[in-house]
Amino acid sequence: MELYNVYPLFDVNIIKGEGCKVWDDKGTEYLDLYGGHAVISIGHAHPKYVEKISSQVATLGFYSNSVINTMQQRVADRLGRVSGYEDYNLFFINSGAEANENALKLSSFKNGKKRVIAFKKAFHGRTSLAVEVTDNPRIIAPINANGHTTYLPLGDIEGVRAEIEKGDVTAVIIEGIQGVGGIQIPDAKFLQELQSLCNATETTLILDEIQSGCGRSGRFFAHQWAGIRPDIITQAKGIGNGFPIGVVLISPKFEAVYGELGTTFGGNHLACAAAEAVLGVIEEENLLDNVNKVGNYLMEELKKIPQIKEVRGRGLMIGIEFDKPIKEIRHRLLFEEHVFTGVSGTNVIRLLPPLTLSLDEAEEFIKRFKNVL
Ligand SMILES: Cc1ncc(COP(=O)(O)O)c(C=O)c1O
Repeated sequence: MELYNVYPLFDVNIIKGEGCKVWDDKGTEYLDLYGGHAVISIGHAHPKYVEKISSQVATLGFYSNSVINTMQQRVADRLGRVSGYEDYNLFFINSGAEANENALKLSSFKNGKKRVIAFKKAFHGRTSLAVEVTDNPRIIAPINANGHTTYLPLGDIEGVRAEIEKGDVTAVIIEGIQGVGGIQIPDAKFLQELQSLCNATETTLILDEIQSGCGRSGRFFAHQWAGIRPDIITQAKGIGNGFPIGVVLISPKFEAVYGELGTTFGGNHLACAAAEAVLGVIEEENLLDNVNKVGNYLMEELKKIPQIKEVRGRGLMIGIEFDKPIKEIRHRLLFEEHVFTGVSGTNVIRLLPPLTLSLDEAEEFIKRFKNVL
């Protein structure tokens, strides 16, 4: 059997990771400024993560959601405390797309409406509702094109108001920081007005923090820079540090109904062990402070480089825009300087390193980046 060939691959076989470094099968060491696509939060093979998951799988790897699993409540307590959302309720799922899928369903169950406002360049995942609110016609199959979504420019508050006034909008969904869209940060005033508008009309405000959450922006959630409290927050990637976990944080306005949502794997014992380890390390190692310190250093240094058109971002979610395609730069970074980076579109390099990136490693990245430029 061959693999279903949907990924254009770099010719590198990564077989080992530690902290912010990974190694290929030939023993070459790489600096990881990509974090396996914003997934690695506390670093590769963090000893506390390894210990927690190993001891859990040796005890009980899985049982179903039909019995009590006290680990789920422990994760909920810890996530509530770290994020400042202690009064919200938590639903576990397995991925980012599924988290958004469930958020949109919850909204529609609550207010009985069907239309969604999403933003241009948004990416929310590839399951049926998640892909339908994603602004990329190339990944929306005809079976998913059900006309539920209106896309507006990011920041267009009057456009949102006009659409909500039509009376059929269930939810507005927005990323804390647009990732795939090129590291676009929604304006704080826009987010505050969006929240007021949604509150006044009982429209659900869903914040997709799948990429920008879990401390990546320097606050636990990127929307917290704007001081808002959305109705539903979705998160995945960093909270599992590689273990597939999605979570939906749900405001107390929503009342749970037996059977309305469900999952086989969501919140299983291994997933909880992974999330507990991640949240523990974020708190114990003060990773948010590190994200702000190292993120600010990177942004300052990048802004001094004349070839760069614009540097955007917060914390360790940084976009470096050039006025030409960056394919060759990224390729040379990987194969000549042994640095992994991400990309958005054609002209933006996206940095999404582990939150444990040290100042020395950041300095080393700047040196290697300058070598390529
Ligand atoms: C903002 C955002 N939402 C949703 C998703 C989908 O997450 P997953 O790939 O885990 O389904 C992603 C993945 O890149 C994302 O960046």
